Amino acid sequence: MQRPGKSITLAGDDLYLLKKEKMETLKTKRTKHTPEVIEDIRKLRGLGLTTSEIALKLDMTYDQILGAIRRNQMPHSERRLDTPDLYEEPPVEELLEHCIKGNELVRDFDPRQREVFPKFDTKRYVGIVFHGDWHFDHYKTDLRTLMNELEEIGKAEDVFYVFNGDSGDWADIRFAGYNMPSMIMPVHLRYKVLFHMVSKIKNLLAVVSGCHDDWLKNRGFFDIISALKDKANALGLPTYYLGYGGQINMTVGKILYRMAVYHKFAGESTVNDFHPCVKYLQQMDSSADIVAIAHRHDKTGIAYAHFQRLPRVYVRSGSHQYLTDYAWKEGFGGAIARAPMVILNPFKKQMIACPNYKEGLEQLRMLNANLPKDK
Ligand SMILES: [Fe+2]
Ligand SMILES: [Fe+2]
Repeated sequence: MQRPGKSITLAGDDLYLLKKEKMETLKTKRTKHTPEVIEDIRKLRGLGLTTSEIALKLDMTYDQILGAIRRNQMPHSERRLDTPDLYEEPPVEELLEHCIKGNELVRDFDPRQREVFPKFDTKRYVGIVFHGDWHFDHYKTDLRTLMNELEEIGKAEDVFYVFNGDSGDWADIRFAGYNMPSMIMPVHLRYKVLFHMVSKIKNLLAVVSGCHDDWLKNRGFFDIISALKDKANALGLPTYYLGYGGQINMTVGKILYRMAVYHKFAGESTVNDFHPCVKYLQQMDSSADIVAIAHRHDKTGIAYAHFQRLPRVYVRSGSHQYLTDYAWKEGFGGAIARAPMVILNPFKKQMIACPNYKEGLEQLRMLNANLPKDK
C-alpha cells in the first residue's frame, strides 16, 4: 500500500482497498460453515479442544466457531481438568516456611500498632484531648462548631489530641437516609477535607479507625485513617495509628501514663456509660490509668474511679453529630458534644479529669503558670 514519497497513513483508495480485502476474507471464511466443517467442530470438541483452539486449527475466527456451536445446538464439551500430582508439590515444611515469610512481610507493611511507648520530656503539665466521631460529612453534624474547636485545641500549648475514629459518615447504602453528601463524596476529596481538618491540630498523638472508616476501607476503598498517621507533630512525637484501638504508654516528664484508646469496646450498657472502660481493664490490661472510648454519640462524660484499688479515669467522648435518623428511629438519645481532656502531672502520678477541653485549657494554663520553682 505504501507509495514512495507518500505518507504511510491510509486514506482514500488505499483504505477502500483494505476494507474490500477484509470483506472478501470474511466472505470466504463464512463459506466454511459447511456440513463438513460442522462435523469437524463436533469432532474437535469431542477431543476436548477449546473454542479458540478449534478456531486456530480450522483457520476460522473464534466468533464463527461459537456461532456454529450455538446454531447447531452442540452440547457443552467436557472441560479438561489437569490436576497436578500433589505429591510433586513442595513439602509441607517448605510451604509453612513460605507462609511464615509471607505473614512477616504483611506484618511489616501493616501500619497499625496495638501498643506504643512515646516519651515526652517535659517539666510542664500536659493535656490530652480525647475526641472522635466527627462524621464531618453528615447533614446533622455541627461542622462549623467542630472546626472552631479544632482551631482552638490545635493552637493550644502543651496539648496533645487523640482522634478516636469515625472521621466521616460513609456507611453502607442501607443506612443512607438523608445522608447524600457522605455517600457521593469521592474518596480523594474526603481525604482532602479530612487532612485539612487534622492539619489544624499541631500535636496529633494518635489516630484510631472507627466503624465508618472501617466500612469505607472494607468496601475496597482506602484506609483513610492510615494516611493521617504521616502527619508531623510540632512537639517532636510521631502520630501513631492504633488500628481499632490500642494503648499509649506515654512517659510525661518522669511519670508513665497508660492510656487505652478504643473507638468501641465490648460491654456497652444502657445503665452504665463507662461499662466498656471497666471491661477493658478486666479483659485487656488492668494497669491502664485512662480508658477512652468513643462510638456512642449519646454517651459523653469523664469519671474518676478506682479499679483494683488504683485511681483511673474513664472517658466517653460524644459527638457533634446530633440526633440522626438512625438514633431517632432506634430510640437512642441525642448526642452531646464534648471533647474531654485529662491533664497529666509530669512530676508525680496525678490525672486531672476535665469534662470539656475549654475547662481543661483554663486549668492547664493556671497549672503551668504556677509551676514549682525547685523542679
Ligand atoms: Fe460515630
Ligand atoms: Fe462508631
